[in-house]
Amino acid sequence: MLIKNALAADCAGAFEGGLRIENGLITEIGDGLAPREGEEVLDARGMVLLPAFTDLHAHFRDPGYTHKETLESGSRAAAKGGYTFVNLMANTNPVCSTARQAAEVQRRMAGIGLCGANQVISVTRDFSGTDISHLDELPDGIRILCEDGKGVQSADVMARVMQKAAARGWIIQSHAEDMQVSPYDYRLAENLETARNIKLAEYYGAWLHLTHVSTKESMADIIDAKLRGAMVTCDVTPHHIWFSEQDYRVNPPIREAEDVQFLLQAIAGGYVDCIATDHAPHTPADKKSGAPGMVGLETAFSVCYTRLVQEGGLPLEALSRLLSFGPASILGLRKGRLLPGWDGDIVLADLRKTYRIDSEEFESMGRNTPFAGMTLCGKIMATVKGGKLTYRDKEFLQ
Ligand code: DOR
Repeated sequence: MLIKNALAADCAGAFEGGLRIENGLITEIGDGLAPREGEEVLDARGMVLLPAFTDLHAHFRDPGYTHKETLESGSRAAAKGGYTFVNLMANTNPVCSTARQAAEVQRRMAGIGLCGANQVISVTRDFSGTDISHLDELPDGIRILCEDGKGVQSADVMARVMQKAAARGWIIQSHAEDMQVSPYDYRLAENLETARNIKLAEYYGAWLHLTHVSTKESMADIIDAKLRGAMVTCDVTPHHIWFSEQDYRVNPPIREAEDVQFLLQAIAGGYVDCIATDHAPHTPADKKSGAPGMVGLETAFSVCYTRLVQEGGLPLEALSRLLSFGPASILGLRKGRLLPGWDGDIVLADLRKTYRIDSEEFESMGRNTPFAGMTLCGKIMATVKGGKLTYRDKEFLQ
């Protein structure tokens, strides 16, 4: 595939022209690349070409809750949002606690072919909170463990996990929530577990990734840890940098305006490693009865472009790092740069396009989003994975 006439940008800079993808990899970049016989050509005039996005935090609910989302519908939502790789959380049914279960999800995702996936393995077996015997059964090559949906409550369990993680090279992705405290103070609940997990990670020399960071206190602790040289990385969600004083139910909750400001400053300062959606589809009935979460894959780019670049003046290169190179490098993927030898995963975005979010048009089975009806700027017009189109906006015709 040849993509031409674009303005291209990745985390390291911008250039005019396009690129060639062969056998799944970028082989040439620049201006004036001539089409070859039989090559698919995308004319990207007026559009911005970016590396496709990687989501470090998504729930596809499969197996077990396929009335909310399936690997197929989640993959289509990812492609429509500009994503070519997702890190899937373990709170399925059954909980993903073995390498065999993870491999099965990854095999099915590869078969669907729209989006690559890493299926996360739970920190404790079946979310028991206590049993970590499954960790000794894991083969080499496992990258990341996460108990998302719950915090790991016992400091003793987390200490033993961190010790093993340091020895085996696993990243512990932390949903920081002290669940004894969260029923009456969710801010304190996040802050306590963030601080505890940073201490444990530093003590054992493990890589800790704090996911969906939402309070200014937690982010301040993460910045301090980074400045001390700790192996601590973090992500924030689009909704936590957009909303404040809003009661749409999500965990962690929507915070105060001061928290949003602090997260935005942390992003501008380069302390945030990535933006992750926490894409959490639910049925209308489940939302009514209080299920926390919102879908995010199909709105993330527009929310982040509007808030961070248009309103906040963040360079497009910095947004590209947050959506692409940052999360991909945490997962150890060769994605997120526009360079020969890197995966041929790209998006074309129309940055002048303003449009209204219509959740009825989502590919996700989840319609649960407070962004519905809002007008945002910056639209994904096409997604390419390994040189193959996985999504094309109906308005983007050659
Ligand atoms: O809002 C949330 N929804 N937060 C979580 O941690 C879990 C997620 C879900 O699985 O629905």
